[in-house]
Amino acid sequence: ENFAELRAELDADGIELLSETDTEVVAALLGREIARMGDLETAFRAVVKRLHGTFTLLAIHESAPDTVIAARHNSPLVVGLGEGENFLGSDVAAFIERSRRAVAVEEDNIAIITPDSVRITDFAGDPVAFEEYEVAWNADTAEKGGWPSFMAKEITEQPEAVANTVRGRVIEPDGEARVEIPELAELGDDRLRAIDRIVIVACGTASYAGQIGAYAIEQWARIPVEVQLSHEFRYRNPVLTERTAVISVSQSGETMDTLMAVKYAKARGTLNISVCNTQSATIPRESDAAVYTHAGPEVAVASTKAFTAQITALYLIGLHLGRVRGTLDPADESAALRSFDELPAAMSAAVATHEQVAQLAHWMADTRSVLFLGRHVGYPAALEGALKLKEIAYIHAEGFAAGELKHGPIALIDHGQPVFVLVPSPRKAPTMHSKVVSNIQEIRARGARVIAIVEVGDTAVLPYADDVIRLPLTDALFEPLVQIVPLQWFALELSTAKGLDVDQPRN
Ligand code: M6R
Repeated sequence: ENFAELRAELDADGIELLSETDTEVVAALLGREIARMGDLETAFRAVVKRLHGTFTLLAIHESAPDTVIAARHNSPLVVGLGEGENFLGSDVAAFIERSRRAVAVEEDNIAIITPDSVRITDFAGDPVAFEEYEVAWNADTAEKGGWPSFMAKEITEQPEAVANTVRGRVIEPDGEARVEIPELAELGDDRLRAIDRIVIVACGTASYAGQIGAYAIEQWARIPVEVQLSHEFRYRNPVLTERTAVISVSQSGETMDTLMAVKYAKARGTLNISVCNTQSATIPRESDAAVYTHAGPEVAVASTKAFTAQITALYLIGLHLGRVRGTLDPADESAALRSFDELPAAMSAAVATHEQVAQLAHWMADTRSVLFLGRHVGYPAALEGALKLKEIAYIHAEGFAAGELKHGPIALIDHGQPVFVLVPSPRKAPTMHSKVVSNIQEIRARGARVIAIVEVGDTAVLPYADDVIRLPLTDALFEPLVQIVPLQWFALELSTAKGLDVDQPRN
């Protein structure tokens, strides 16, 4: 953030820079300090203390070719421990193929690694003790395993990711199954009963998982829930008390905006619960409790299995809170547990729509804009479908709450405009189903090309849909976990049809 000032200082010293990047300013500063101070470590410490803003920096110098020195400030850094080799990464997925032994580098610390040694100090140079931990992920989970992309592999892993996230959190102490999350139980029931408001903070896909989770938590735990984008949260002077629970949702556990939101809330005395996929990442370490999703490493930039695992974890939190607070109807709990049981099979059927969706994407390869409609939990799922398409296929896409359409956006519907519609189950959500069918009629009458995602056996939409993707749906709250899968395939296949890099989108 102060690179302009530092650059001016280097200019005044006659040091010429070759690019406009802020990183080069750091390299040039470091070069100057090494020339003045003589050694890399002293010079590096002097430099990091002068930098404002968020950074993880790694440096090497010709005088010590076997040493890499690294510093972090509000940005992630993890050390991987090997035999005759050590690693630095922003998270363990970066080196999991080579080592499962890791060390979390704390905020404002410096790690100095050689092939045979690891030292950590603070910015003043004082040694910092550290402990290693064993990463639970297997190396093969970070390999493509025959799939053309990590994203494709990760889409297919979702039934397992969801089942793994539930595993160990359903107990049957007296023959009756119930949800118990040990990490929440440790907080004590009194603390959970005292919660009078929940704020979910997250960015991007994680925020859509948060929006979906909010429906379930309100339904089962009867606590008002709001969802805030992490980067907006701090700047609105949010009302927070010690009875507020802040639930952060982050796959990586390192997203800076979400981390800053958690720190902000923590400083104001809230209870902080992290939903995270990456063991020992910074956000769960900053939180009072971590409810890990067990999706395995998500290597593709586009989030898929983390999304469905995050929704699952939030639902489990809703069930746990509901039971502790006495607001959860036992019939609702049994229905939710049944839905969790049925989910992997339903998601596998959704994964099996791949070929049909690939064909659709192939026909639509020239499409310039796609809209997504949903209601209730289908609305954030529609937003997520649109995000996937923007992110990896670089196509303009928007998600809408179906009922909002007539308040303006319906003007976008023109002849041939593709619109994906997430249709609720007519058996489980008859009222919402009929409302969505009437939304479909409205857009069809204006020329939309309707791609309806429906429950197997739902014939009501057939007269108005150009394409129909059939899925086994479950209870209303669980529908997005199944309906999102064809939308993920669609984004992947459209990206592939355009010859783009599915796993690493531009920018
Ligand atoms: O690691 P996080 O879950 O905190 O990341 C948040 C977002 O950056 C992330 O969900 C992003 O929106 C997805 N990669 C989109 O597919």
